[in-house]
Amino acid sequence: MNIDRLKRLTGNCLCALLLTACSSGTAETLQSPDGRLSLTAGVKDGCPYYSLAQGTETLINPSALGFILEDGPLDDNFRLKEVRHSTFDETWAQPWGEEVEVRNHYNELTLDLEERNGLKRRLSIVFRLFDDGLGFRYVFPEQENLKQFVIMDEKTEYAFPWDAKAWSIPTNGTKYYEALFTASPLSRKDTISTPVTLEVNDSLYMVLHEADLTDYASLNLTPGTNKQEKGVTLRAALTPWSTGEKVFAAAPFATPWRTIIVGKTPGDLMLSRLMLNLNEPCKLEDTSWIEPGRYVGIWWGMHMEKYTWAQGPKHGATTANTMRYIDFAAKHGFSGVLVEGWNYGWDGDWTENGDAFSFTKPYPDYDLKKLADYARQKGVRLIGHNETGGAATNYEQQLDSAYALYRSLGINAVKTGYVNPMLDHKELQHSQYGVRHYRKVIVTAARYGIMIDNHEPAMPTGLQRTYPNLMTQEGVRGQEYNAWSPDGGNPPEHTCILPFTRGLAGPMDFTPGIFNFRNPVFPGTHPQTTLAKQLALYVVLFSPLQMAADMVENYENQPAFSFITSCPTTWAKTIIPDAKIGEFVTIARKDRNSENWFVGSITNAEARTLELPLDFLSPGASYKATVYEDGEGADYKTNPYPMKITEEEVTADSILTLQLAPGGGTAIRIEKL
Ligand code: NOJ
Repeated sequence: MNIDRLKRLTGNCLCALLLTACSSGTAETLQSPDGRLSLTAGVKDGCPYYSLAQGTETLINPSALGFILEDGPLDDNFRLKEVRHSTFDETWAQPWGEEVEVRNHYNELTLDLEERNGLKRRLSIVFRLFDDGLGFRYVFPEQENLKQFVIMDEKTEYAFPWDAKAWSIPTNGTKYYEALFTASPLSRKDTISTPVTLEVNDSLYMVLHEADLTDYASLNLTPGTNKQEKGVTLRAALTPWSTGEKVFAAAPFATPWRTIIVGKTPGDLMLSRLMLNLNEPCKLEDTSWIEPGRYVGIWWGMHMEKYTWAQGPKHGATTANTMRYIDFAAKHGFSGVLVEGWNYGWDGDWTENGDAFSFTKPYPDYDLKKLADYARQKGVRLIGHNETGGAATNYEQQLDSAYALYRSLGINAVKTGYVNPMLDHKELQHSQYGVRHYRKVIVTAARYGIMIDNHEPAMPTGLQRTYPNLMTQEGVRGQEYNAWSPDGGNPPEHTCILPFTRGLAGPMDFTPGIFNFRNPVFPGTHPQTTLAKQLALYVVLFSPLQMAADMVENYENQPAFSFITSCPTTWAKTIIPDAKIGEFVTIARKDRNSENWFVGSITNAEARTLELPLDFLSPGASYKATVYEDGEGADYKTNPYPMKITEEEVTADSILTLQLAPGGGTAIRIEKL
């Protein structure tokens, strides 16, 4: 093979070139605690690399590591100075989550590298190998010849020996990560935002993402070929600043972790807590004020154009309307009422003029103090809404005054929003600029005892372990697309894909629970689900703050509503009895405060019958199962409403037969007798 062809195949990266062509070098090895996964890492002709295997099967061929800094490469002139091994095993508890206890068990290998000549700069690469995958990060130690530096490119590669079917959203052309995940061979993808989920075969699934995104740029990936006949190499492509640089840093400095989760089933990916384990432990001394819960809101009414955010005859955030929502919330056991459009700044083009937003000044027809008091008396809290129109600096300038006001009023949760493709009209949400801004919001909010629901975020990376007041985030094509999307709404397979893709990055504020599918504005656009599937989403899509998204009047006299009001939003345990990405998924979760279980099962456009063994229940105990299922003739296209609610006594030996209509679902509450 001539050198030019080799260069083309390896994307012109000198190190990748050397890895394919040279054999001299060091090779350190590391095994996962159960011995199933093994890592090899070292330096070959000055280039750091790693590879990953499962038993005798190669998962990742030798792949390049390193950087291009502003003043040149930092990836091809290293020698291995020191190798360190360690092991770690702890179990920690989540204040909220999909289970309580998380085991953090890994073997660690650190390569301390030093440049062979010249400036003799130092770089360490830390690998943590868990039973369920690999995390690695770069650490720039404090040193004489590398103080302030600028990363122009991260050279991390993932050289797969094969091509694989993968679900991802493209970086190019996607705003706010609100795109449909599509399945295609890796080789055919253009740009990829992580997480990207690979189905290599029916017993090998992998997901690539990152953990602990701190003061860095978000990870994207670009596919290219490699020396294997059908192999595909993914290369890191960090989100740039508007000026082209990727990251401004100063040593000592650590990058986010690059994560590779490996599972036998799609469910294994969902149950991996590798991303959380690679985040820092909780930094908040007191987390007792952090309260998962359910909320309603003056919200869908705007998307249905019944109300406006701005002032005028249809203003939604009025005192009277909000009192009505508070009454409803109190009556049905909701903890929060979100009110959008309560504050000055919405009149005119708010996405362009975000600087006009005030986060302390209510509109005249919204009596903030009176409403906060009224809510408190009723055992409900207002949820603040801070749409910024992307004007991050304007928001930062008001953070302290706004959060101090909310705290004084008993408001302990805020939904933030950044509807503008650029923050401050210049930087991308997922750039280092955006990442710094969102962190500032979360940390400031924690100081004031405020939980955050971040819309239009950078892609989540597990930061809720460190700051559990970061409850939930958007960064997903959510329910609102069923209000105004010109393509008619989210297709039925969308929510059968999300738990295995975007959901792996953290809780999603998808906002399920639309009961009235009539859309006066865009009659052809509405949820592409049955009513029963709207219920099942409360179990399938995890979010510790979970909205009942419809206008409250649409829940009156609806027997189905009783599932939502009984369904917890934080769990003691989660299991995934069965799933096929994009086709169907069944999830069972156990309540934290009782012996009750909740099941959600959803399908794509295909009707299907699923057997559900209840072997997760306690042996010997009896339970009452209340089943909310698609009724006679239910079909997401023609007849979404029919629903049957039945009760039966079950035990751990029972097997339920679930009949899911096209675009349908089943929701089950299982109460211990
Ligand atoms: C987009 C958010 O996702 C949506 O929930 C909100 O209503 C609007 N922005 C206005 O802030």
